Amino acid sequence: MGPQRKKLIVGNWKMNLSVQEASLYLHKLSEMIPIRRDVEVVLSPTLLALQPLSLQINRRQFKLAVQNFYWRDNGAYTGEVSAAQLHSIADYAIIGHSERRYKFHETEKDIRNKVQAAVRNRIKPILCIGETVSERSYGETNDVVRDQLASGLANLTSDDLEMLVVAYEPVWAIGTGNNANPRDVADAVKVIRGELKHLYGAKATEDVRVLYGGSVTPSSAGDYLAVKGVDGLLIGGASLDGHGFTDIVKKAHTSIAVTKA
Ligand code: PGA
Repeated sequence: MGPQRKKLIVGNWKMNLSVQEASLYLHKLSEMIPIRRDVEVVLSPTLLALQPLSLQINRRQFKLAVQNFYWRDNGAYTGEVSAAQLHSIADYAIIGHSERRYKFHETEKDIRNKVQAAVRNRIKPILCIGETVSERSYGETNDVVRDQLASGLANLTSDDLEMLVVAYEPVWAIGTGNNANPRDVADAVKVIRGELKHLYGAKATEDVRVLYGGSVTPSSAGDYLAVKGVDGLLIGGASLDGHGFTDIVKKAHTSIAVTKA
């Protein structure tokens, strides 16, 4: 039998909802999404809402992810928030998201420093990797995925890997409605798992969860959850609709029932 990794559904609310709206939305979700031992549900609100929501949530039902932070722990960095300050507020950190790479020009070095800072502060990194449309058209998908993974993890030891989540997010699929073909996702996930094994060995990487993200909807979620090696989903737009998001979480739960049957 293969490793039993807990399914993970992450809702990235991006720069949406005020603090009050976020709190009301969390309340609504808490009434709709039951606690299930086999599915972990992570919500990623705006940074401002993270602290109040951390007091509001039942951590058996939901965990919280920060969308961004600065990698140094403290110092003269006006306007920044560190992983050390987020410790015990955020359980996870989204790192290397394409919106940060391409809209805010985050470099590979920034990303690798952030992964290390998250781990140092006991926050689980969700490292996002994926090719652009032009890289895909040149047939460079596998190389890009391997390079981003190796670079993002360069500061981690095999002991750190128990905290790691990797999200395969083809850039052209994010927020575009252009979701990837599950067969292509299967190929990319195979490359990711192969590279992890190459870097750290099979044993150290068997618990690493790999997610897919990019225009996932309630109707496509099941197709990705059925892909071998995919342990969950990173949801942007569709995470802002309570019913749709609840439906996606339910699909993660039933996908496990199907696998077991
Ligand atoms: P999307 O966003 O679901 O809106 O495409 C995904 C993401 O940003 O990770």
